[in-house]
Amino acid sequence: MSNKKQTSNALWGGRFDDGPGALMEAINASIDIDQRMAAQDIEGSIAHARMLAACAIITKEDEAAILGGLETIKDEIARGDFKFSRKLEDIHMNIEARLADLIGEPAGRLHTARSRNDQVATDFRLWLRAALDGLDAQLLAFQKALLTKAEEEAETLMPGFTHLQSAQPVTFGHHLLAYVEMAGRDRGRVHDARARLNESPLGAAALAGTAFAIDRHMSAKALGFDQPMANSLDAVSARDFALEALAAAAICAVHLSRLAEEIVIWTSAGFSFVRLSDQFSTGSSIMPQKRNPDAAELVRAKAGRITGALNTLLMVMKGLPLAYSKDMQEDKEPVFDALDTLSLALAAMTGMVEDLTANRQNMQNAAGAAFSTATDLADWLVREAGVPFREAHGLTGRIVQYAEQNNLALHEIPLDQMCALAPMVTKAVYQVLTPHASVSSRTSYGGTAPENVRAQIARWKEKLS
Ligand code: ARG
Repeated sequence: MSNKKQTSNALWGGRFDDGPGALMEAINASIDIDQRMAAQDIEGSIAHARMLAACAIITKEDEAAILGGLETIKDEIARGDFKFSRKLEDIHMNIEARLADLIGEPAGRLHTARSRNDQVATDFRLWLRAALDGLDAQLLAFQKALLTKAEEEAETLMPGFTHLQSAQPVTFGHHLLAYVEMAGRDRGRVHDARARLNESPLGAAALAGTAFAIDRHMSAKALGFDQPMANSLDAVSARDFALEALAAAAICAVHLSRLAEEIVIWTSAGFSFVRLSDQFSTGSSIMPQKRNPDAAELVRAKAGRITGALNTLLMVMKGLPLAYSKDMQEDKEPVFDALDTLSLALAAMTGMVEDLTANRQNMQNAAGAAFSTATDLADWLVREAGVPFREAHGLTGRIVQYAEQNNLALHEIPLDQMCALAPMVTKAVYQVLTPHASVSSRTSYGGTAPENVRAQIARWKEKLS
């Protein structure tokens, strides 16, 4: 690219003879990214113009001209008729320049007691606030889809895993409810981030405040902020609101990636616990039999991208002196991308949860395999024969070893063999050795018993209604 010069910038070029070179313009322009905040930029300008007029800093006539012009621009953008220009750098100057075309002199009064530094911080907070509300609504829909599936599968047995090794039987409903809990905490983080970001930087001006007698409370209120930010330097420098939103998004994405990975595992031939319909499966161009869970794999991968966005902005902000530095213009691209990506991932996960069917027989068979009720046997020895748990653990270990060597399930071991290894065993022990008995007995608060699962579903339904 050559570095050919432009004519001097109309909005800040007063002390310049020449315009920026082409390379300067290329690295400096943010309009390709920040035009997404056009609606918020106009909203902020409307609030600012009204406040300036209410404080008699501009006339009522200028206010009317500005508001009329901004409405026209809003329509032009909505219709796709607005011409965004890289020469005008960013969304703020694109809109202000168009306002000058439309209404002439009064447009030049809008930027009184304001700077792009407080303007961009305001726009970005407004954009992110709406995005967080959208994320919350999507998380709610995800929770509802999980609850519906959990209700259908409240009694469905499956192996619970630790180390991805069969550990103890659980119910599929209980497993799905674990994700309802995670999504609930994700929503808590979204609410917290929203509450902390909801303060107005507008009127902090470039960094030091302004000598004009403005009313920052008025513009803050008009934009739905709880109050104006108390320190002008902080108002234009702070990006922790975006970091916090990205952190909430990254944690949420990591949660989604875990369910995505489980769907990959469950749909594999070795497990065959669930089936995704053709809606959520893809084929192979060479292997005609394949059904691949690509959507789940992509959700798993997108967690990396979203976490990367958090890291990107953390690194941009690290070590930046107060107040504004142009580095901060790099804040929007990762935030927009992370929230778009998370929105798509959440929609896809919600769709997959609604879509999947459990292969109940396969899950139940797997639930009873791999001596999954060994803990129930040890617990029986404690409860019915008064054996200390550590000793019961050792006795049960020997029974499992015997079963493994003789290729038997625990409930297939004859009573006399059981008694040879653990003399206190009676035939009543067989009642606790089925996976069904195992899950039904786990009625401790938060445990996997179907009656608990139903109670938790009822609690969540009440909470979400
Ligand atoms: N486009 C800029 C950004 O996104 C707006 C603020 C520019 N301020 C400045 N002093 N150059 O950060």
